[in-house]
Amino acid sequence: MALLTEGTPGKLKLGVLISGRGSNLQALLDATSAPDFPAEVALVLANKADAAGLERARAAGVPALAIPHKDYADKPAFEQAMTQALEDAGVRLVCLAGFMRLLSPWFVDHWRDRLINIHPSLLPAFPGIDTHQRALDAGVRFHGCTVHYVRSAVDSGPIVAQAAVPVRAGDTADTLADRVLAAEHQLYPLAVRLIAQGQVMVDGDRAVLAGPLTTPGTVLNPA
Ligand code: GAR
Repeated sequence: MALLTEGTPGKLKLGVLISGRGSNLQALLDATSAPDFPAEVALVLANKADAAGLERARAAGVPALAIPHKDYADKPAFEQAMTQALEDAGVRLVCLAGFMRLLSPWFVDHWRDRLINIHPSLLPAFPGIDTHQRALDAGVRFHGCTVHYVRSAVDSGPIVAQAAVPVRAGDTADTLADRVLAAEHQLYPLAVRLIAQGQVMVDGDRAVLAGPLTTPGTVLNPA
């Protein structure tokens, strides 16, 4: 792949990893299509050939590849193939966007502080799956989403940004998921922009933000 020379100089090159529908990928594609956005999507990778998000990438004119995990003998071979494709594309920040394979310590270390994830809860509450039903079962008043740097433990790592949404009487897991997803679509581009502008420094287990922060609401990543 001769992608290293492509793209706009000065923009942070993103690799987006997906497994399915790709609505967060779409939010990143929409945000990065603005000329003044400081990052661009250089490559989209899916671990499933039928991931709907691949079509979103192609529709946006962004290189998109399926690297089906089932085609590889083991996890190291699969992760090496993804890493090779990402590095060939000149990717400097990997964004997990509904990527549903657990990544090995090797991959996480290789991309340390260059690998972020969006998770549908206010971490460290509710890591793992079924976050919306678990939030309802716990009776929390606020739920939300988190963008964080990835560490080896599941859904852990320095928090870049969070968005909170209210839990309303009568919510089901589906209605709550819809409200959180809308927040995810605002939060992921915001977090990427902060990183691309050099406003996020990882200090041990915490990410420290510097400089002016955009806070369109009182509960979205308050300064
Ligand atoms: C999103 O809600 C994302 O936060 C979640 O999967 C969904 C993917 O939707 N990710 C995780 O649960 C990872 N732990 P999308 O494909 O439409 O972006």
